[in-house]
Amino acid sequence: MTTVKVKLGIRSYPIIIGTGAVKRLARAMPRRPSHIRCFTFFDAGVYPLYHTIVNRSLSGKRIQSSEFVLPSGEQSKSAEAAGALYDFLLDQQVSRSDFILAVGGGVVSDVVGYVAATTMRGIHWGILPTTLLSMVDAAIGGKTGINHRSGKNLIGAFWQPRFVVCDLDFLRTLAQRDLVAGLGEIVKYAGLIGEPMLSLVQRYLEKGELHDENMLQSLVQKSAAFKGAIVAADEHDNGRRAVLNLGHTFAHGVEHSMGYAELRHGEAVVLGLLAATELSSRYWKSAAKYLVPYRRIIEQVMRFVPKTRIDIDKALAAMSVDKKRVSQVQRFVLLSRPGSPHIISDVSPNAARKSLEAALHTYESIGGVNATHSGR
Ligand code: GLY
Repeated sequence: MTTVKVKLGIRSYPIIIGTGAVKRLARAMPRRPSHIRCFTFFDAGVYPLYHTIVNRSLSGKRIQSSEFVLPSGEQSKSAEAAGALYDFLLDQQVSRSDFILAVGGGVVSDVVGYVAATTMRGIHWGILPTTLLSMVDAAIGGKTGINHRSGKNLIGAFWQPRFVVCDLDFLRTLAQRDLVAGLGEIVKYAGLIGEPMLSLVQRYLEKGELHDENMLQSLVQKSAAFKGAIVAADEHDNGRRAVLNLGHTFAHGVEHSMGYAELRHGEAVVLGLLAATELSSRYWKSAAKYLVPYRRIIEQVMRFVPKTRIDIDKALAAMSVDKKRVSQVQRFVLLSRPGSPHIISDVSPNAARKSLEAALHTYESIGGVNATHSGR
């Protein structure tokens, strides 16, 4: 079991990582002289698998818990779904000394965190992420929110959790495709960190066992530590935190062009990372040779990304409305070498097009070779 700390002064919190970490839930709860009321929100997909173990871990005199199950999928990130959560809490006279727990992936932590941030002007909360993607990304950093018809995550708040508990046992039941969805972000961190993360991801891929627990423990720990440090340095995303968008400008374009169907976010990130690597090599002549080992890793993971047709014109058009733009300038995170990210805003549209074309060309030839096609 290891603990990574997100250092935010009196709002600092632990990310507890390990097999069986769910048993630490009660200990991670705030200490109070009286008992704690805990409102636990489960994703419907994981409820049958984990509600017994979660409730057992919360049981005892100190914690009185009640539960709510949210439908799986993006529709739960809506004002209507949030309304049902407010009703549930307020009908039970929730108070600011109560606690909220989110159990599920990024959809659940986003909407539950937003409800925690806005009910009674902020109720403390914690997250038990059940996907690899959420363990390394969504659960860390306090970004919470819901979607609006004008776009995703347009309504939200920064509201840091009091803890994140990552139980690696929960990854055992994940299909290959769910792991690859998280792997996209892990490969992103490898580009941002450079060595020794690059070699670690390389060894993991060479082992060929995506469920390898020891490897996953190290990968989650290093990813969480990196993201935690970035969040500590730029909690409100006014500067450095933007490096976490490596590969994401292209990825959002690709996802938007296909109406957020067919590819998962993490899979689109793999394509986006290759395009960002291409663009980096166009931007700095010296980058190409430094990025060779990183490209190799991205291409290995791309073999797990299901093959689908991507309309490059639609993807490029969607990129020009990417919400990560600052005013009218389109920003890209580029790598002059692994471990050296830069936020660049003077990329020519032609270089962006050529880079996406090259990445899609590689995807057409090697994408999907090792993919399983279960689930969306
Ligand atoms: N997922 C990017 C961030 O948390 O800033």
